Parts: sequence; C-alpha cells; structure tokens
Amino acid sequence: MLSTLQPEMSYTFNKSKELYDRACEVIAGGVNSGIRKLEVPVPIFFTHGKGSRLWDEDGNEYIDYQTGQGALLYGHAPEGQAAAIGEQAKKGTHWAAQSILEIEVAERLCHLVPSAEYVRFSNSATEVVNSVFRLARCHTGRPLILKFEGHYHGWGDEGLVGFGTPPDKWGDAENPANLHPSKGVIPEVLDHFVVARWNDIEHLRRRVDQYRGQIAAIIFEPVLCNTSCIEPVPGLIETIRELCDRDGMLMIADETITGFRFGPGGAQKHLDFVPDLTVFGKAIGGGVPFAAMAGKKEVFEKIISGEVVHAGTLNSNPLCLAASKWCLDELIALGDSHPQEILERGSRLMAELRTLADSHNIPLRPQGPGLVFHTIMLKPGAAEGRVLDYRDYVARHDAPRWAHLRRCLLEEGVRAIERGLWFLTLAHTDADIDETLERSRRAFARHAQEWEAAKG
Ligand SMILES: Cc1ncc(COP(=O)(O)O)c(C=O)c1O
Repeated sequence: MLSTLQPEMSYTFNKSKELYDRACEVIAGGVNSGIRKLEVPVPIFFTHGKGSRLWDEDGNEYIDYQTGQGALLYGHAPEGQAAAIGEQAKKGTHWAAQSILEIEVAERLCHLVPSAEYVRFSNSATEVVNSVFRLARCHTGRPLILKFEGHYHGWGDEGLVGFGTPPDKWGDAENPANLHPSKGVIPEVLDHFVVARWNDIEHLRRRVDQYRGQIAAIIFEPVLCNTSCIEPVPGLIETIRELCDRDGMLMIADETITGFRFGPGGAQKHLDFVPDLTVFGKAIGGGVPFAAMAGKKEVFEKIISGEVVHAGTLNSNPLCLAASKWCLDELIALGDSHPQEILERGSRLMAELRTLADSHNIPLRPQGPGLVFHTIMLKPGAAEGRVLDYRDYVARHDAPRWAHLRRCLLEEGVRAIERGLWFLTLAHTDADIDETLERSRRAFARHAQEWEAAKG
C-alpha cells in the first residue's frame, strides 16, 4: 500500500513549534525526558499511532522506527492489547495487592526465558537495575559492579556510571574513567564501579583480575544498543560467564532492549548463554510502564528473607499486567517463527539504505543484527569496518552529518531515533520497507545536495 502522504512535499512542524513554546511555560525544558530535546527541528507532538505509523499535530504521517525507544515491539496501538487494557481498566487499575494476573505473567515469563526461575516486577528498567545491583552486593558480600563503557543501564546514580564520557575524560584504555554524565550524583557511588571497554576480552580479564574478590557482578547489554549497535565479538559472552563462575560474581544481562526483540527467549537464547539475573523492560510491556527482574532462585533469597528491600506502590498493577500478559501471549503464539520476519526485513532495510547511500556518496554504514541497527555516518577519512566499542564509535561517527540526514528523513516521513538507532516492529510490513526506501531516496538526495553545498 502506498502512502497517503504528499510525495513531493517535505514536512513542516508549525503546530509542534507552537505547542513546544506552550509546554516550555509549564514543563521544565518543555519535555519529560531529557533526550527528547534532541529532536530537530523541534520536539514533535504526536496525536496517535497505528501499526508502523505515527501521526503528529501538524498532520504529518511517519513510518516509525523510533517505536517508543524500542518498547513497541508489537507496533503502535495493537487492538488486542488495547482491548486487554480497556477491559482491565473497567475492573480496576491499581490495588497495591495480589492478583491472579501477576502469577499468569510470571508463569509466562518463566516459561519463555530459561534462566527465569523467579521474577519480581517494577515500573521501569531503571528501578530494576537498582534492585539487581543491591541484590548482587548483598548476595556476594562484595562492593563493586563491573560495567562496560557506553552501555546504558537507566538514568539512576548507579546505572549511568561510565556512559557518554567525553574523550578528554576517558582515561587511559586500561583504566576507563568511572564518571557519571549528571551533576548532583553522590560522589561515593562512582567508587563502587569498575568500567571496562566492550569487546576486548584480554582487557576484561585484566580488569577483573585487578579487582579480584571485590566485584559482585558484571552487567552488560548482550548486544550494545545504546552506543551504535555493537554485537559482542566471538568469545566475549563466554568469557563473562567463565569469569563470573570462576570468581563467584553474578552475570547480569540487561535485556531491556534485546529481551523479546531477539526472540521469545531474548538475546540469552539467541546468543546461547545463561545469566544469573536479567533486566527486562520495554517490550515486556509493549509501551506501558512495566519491567521485571528475573533469575536463579538462589539469587532471590535475600529478597525473600527481606534483607534486600524491593518495593513500590505501583509494582505489578493490574493495568500493566494485563498489557504484559497480552504481549507475552503474542510471543508464545509466534513461537520460533519470531524473530525471523523482523530479522529479514531489518536486514533488507540495512542493505538497501547502504546501497542508496553509496549511490549518493554518503558514507553511511548501517551496523547491527537487523532486529535493531544503527546508521553510522563515517567522518571524512575515518577507517572502514565494523565499529567495535564506544571509543571507536565516537572517533568515527560524524554526528552532525547524521543529524542533518536524520532531519531530511524526518521531513520525508521516516522517523529514526535521534542518535541513529532504528527499531523495527512486528507490525512493519514489506510494503513499509518499500515505502521507507522510496521516502529515503528523496531524503538522501536532498541531504547529499545540501551537505555538499554547505561545504562550499
Ligand atoms: C539497556 C537499557 N537498560 C535500562 C534502560 C532503562 O529503562 P527505563 O527507561 O525503562 O528506565 C534502558 C532504556 O533505554 C536501556 O536501553
């Protein structure tokens, strides 16, 4: 099906601009999550979405690849989920108590994910990260957490250590800095983190040996999706498991993005490893505030005994449980057929975006497993080849040039994430990919022309 959009007209955002000005009068900075300010030319105000499509207040229609920062694995407003939420809302949204629904969701999660023997529910992955760190420290009696440069584990004091550190503060390659991008963080928190570079197995071994006996857990995104889109080199995940077993550390997989996107069993099944604890967010709720920690029974003992506090007024509220139950039932119904379709469509989109870029001499290099991918824009003279870690990415990615292309795409009705990530959903069809490429053709042509003209 071809679009209902005006093909030759690029978009304008006058209503969003007006609304943003109005929002700035009453909402600090005009947005409710800092990164939303990155949207250029203005943070957009949306009215509704359906499947792969999203509409804004100016009447612009987008083929969406931002898809709620990856939470909408099932597309925008799936009818079954809307009905499940609606039905539950009539019975009650919140009891701060038990319901059969929470057992049903927990049973589904334990069924889908082999490492999930016990679960606990929260409202966001940021909260879950706080809980797993607390649990790991109490379980092992050790103070430190090892995490990787450029991996994002929520915006809390602990989860964000070592994220987005600017090059002049990186520290040497053997001892990456344990800085926090936010001011106002309790300084002592930083002393409880060891930061390592991603994808360097020997470096990881040395980092663990340096702090041997003091590290409670190693946390990681199984595929690094918050800095470019970087798969682990062969042997890395196995080494993390081996070191955790050798030294009694917990292996914590942060599957907030990869969970359910990489198949019903998450990246851990896709990549064949068994973590001690897992963080789930985003697709477990399909767009409602729902998250979970899952893991081995023995690791949950300190929560059961009450030595580790895990609490929350809105935890496991029936509204979110109803939404999540619908999502997990979708995955169970898809079975092993998922993630094949997304994989094929995503891989095709990556390949054809590259061909299109080549035809305009745009140095765009899509990278990732297709289920999610990143469009790296090479800086002039930057080396070819796969980006391997955070430092490599910062050194080679031309962020201003990507921002210009991203705006051209947006103005043609293709919406990728500001920093260059693309999330497909189960609702994207082959026709959506065709139309995305059609729209991208115009965006790439305009970008190439304007970028060359700006250079003089
Ligand atoms: C890997 C990872 N962990 C944790 C989080 C935090 O999730 P939330 O924003 O739901 O707190 C995110 C969010 O993008 C994430 O990508």
